[in-house]
Amino acid sequence: MCGIIGITGQSTVTERLVDGLKRLEYRGYDSSGIAVINGTGLKRARAEGKIKALERTLDMTPLDGHIGIAHTRWATHGVPNETNAHPHFYGRVGVVHNGIIENFLELRNSLPGHKFQTETDTEVVAHLIEDSLNRGLSPKDAFEDTLKKLKGAYAFGVIIDGVDDQIFCARAGSPLAIGIGEDEMYLGSDAMALAQLTNKLIYLEEGDWAIISPKDAQIFDREGASVTREETIITGGLAMAEKGNYRHFMLKEIYEQPETVGRTLANYVDEFNLTANLPEGLDFSKFDRIIIIACGTAYYSGVVAKYWFEQLANIAVDVDIASEFRYREPVISENSLFIAVSQSGETADTLAALRYCQSKGVTTAALVNVMTSTMAREADIALPINAGPEIGVASTKAFTSQLTALASIALSAMKSRKNISRDAEIRLANALIKTPRKIKEALELDPQIEQIAFELSKSRSAFYLGRGMQVPIAYEGALKLKEISYIHAEGYAAGELKHGPIALIEDGTPVIVLAPYDNLFEKTISNLQEVASRGARIILITDEIGAKSTGSMASEMIVVPSTDSFVAPIITTIAIQLLAYHTAVHLGTDVDQPRNLAKSVTVE
Ligand code: G6P
Repeated sequence: MCGIIGITGQSTVTERLVDGLKRLEYRGYDSSGIAVINGTGLKRARAEGKIKALERTLDMTPLDGHIGIAHTRWATHGVPNETNAHPHFYGRVGVVHNGIIENFLELRNSLPGHKFQTETDTEVVAHLIEDSLNRGLSPKDAFEDTLKKLKGAYAFGVIIDGVDDQIFCARAGSPLAIGIGEDEMYLGSDAMALAQLTNKLIYLEEGDWAIISPKDAQIFDREGASVTREETIITGGLAMAEKGNYRHFMLKEIYEQPETVGRTLANYVDEFNLTANLPEGLDFSKFDRIIIIACGTAYYSGVVAKYWFEQLANIAVDVDIASEFRYREPVISENSLFIAVSQSGETADTLAALRYCQSKGVTTAALVNVMTSTMAREADIALPINAGPEIGVASTKAFTSQLTALASIALSAMKSRKNISRDAEIRLANALIKTPRKIKEALELDPQIEQIAFELSKSRSAFYLGRGMQVPIAYEGALKLKEISYIHAEGYAAGELKHGPIALIEDGTPVIVLAPYDNLFEKTISNLQEVASRGARIILITDEIGAKSTGSMASEMIVVPSTDSFVAPIITTIAIQLLAYHTAVHLGTDVDQPRNLAKSVTVE
């Protein structure tokens, strides 16, 4: 994980590096640091915790130079303290790293006499380069020689005292781009990191390494051959999002959803002809199976999509968690369509799954929010969700846009597989088009949900139940609550609870039941009765019709607007997002940057 940035240029770098780190903070915020070379050698400043802490350190002990590297960390090896914070130094060498060096212990043991200061996997890289320099290798050869010894995933930025205008960098398994400026060169984990500096990027390919100096970038492939990589001009969409008048980015992003879902729809649904546009390159009549792979919240959007594709388009769907899929040796037929769902487009396991399917000759699509991401660039078909930058670590607007895009694509699949009457198509397209307005109405429940959250915040654990398409929303509700309020929560298929977890229900245990009025409503309400009769405190999320049919079994009832059951999961999502948000606010947690998490998980 982690974010890295570097500048070799003509003017001072510290402030610009810190700005870049803020843009990368979504990759982790356990610690941060910068290193520069100035007239007095290699210097660094590091701090435990968020980038604000590094800024305070820099205020007290300013540091500057014309060349520097910087890092924001999500800890893998070694506790998140200042000692383990990057950049790591040894001798003349300073290193920042994103990824995991899997053979670091073996490499440490290969360096007798070396004293290690940290518990990290990264520090050994500085030692190896210094060791090679001491053996008389040139800086270029020392860097290349070191890369050859490494196993695992990495993106590096390395500076060497005495080589005062060059940054050495490399990528294998973790993303890295070179930015081209006016007599300056940059490196960064992504386009976002460099957006204030340049829009002209060169994305390094797997195994590439490079030496950048203010006027020049020399790039080499894994074998050491000099190569040229294409320049890309990034256009728009990389402005740092502002919180505006909202207390948290998460709340702002929840409230943006009528607009963001509208933007997603604009790309996939023709509202005048009431039909879904088949995304270019996708011919569903060719496929006999869809494989949807994702992690976290994105995975739950895939689980909902399974219902849509199977029920509407009569096409079998496998949905899997990327970290499981990639090592399971799954059976994949060539007529499958692989869809990676990822807000960031960088999640390491999802990317590995995509590459695995590509190697099997399968058509791959990436449904992403960040269209400059590795997945968008590597998949055969990039499918945008257009939710705009999502800053809150707990995903909200990206999820409803993923759902909206997948529902629309399922509708287009239904059409291209001729599994639909025109009347049905009109009904479903209409339901989609009305979604932004229904979300807006659901947001009006905010004050009531805030009150319900006050009670929920006193609980130690909670259950979320649903049936059918509400099961993944129950999972997502529990995930949201866990992520930001740190209350233990479980999402369950309502019919499955009695096979074990019901033993955990005690007097007052909160159970959030997702039951809009659909063909499974009565069955879900029966399950509700089972837990209510064992003392659970029921928070029922239903719609207007459901509310009329339930009587007073629930302690609290959140009544979302009625919709076609096709889009109901998008609407109930709004309620579970607000419930988690307000619970966390009542508890005073860091809602936008919850402990131990990162927005983009670039290690496996
Ligand atoms: C992290 C984030 C989640 C996100 C998941 C997948 O765990 O905290 O919010 O759902 O990664 O990320 P992706 O960018 O692939 O959607």
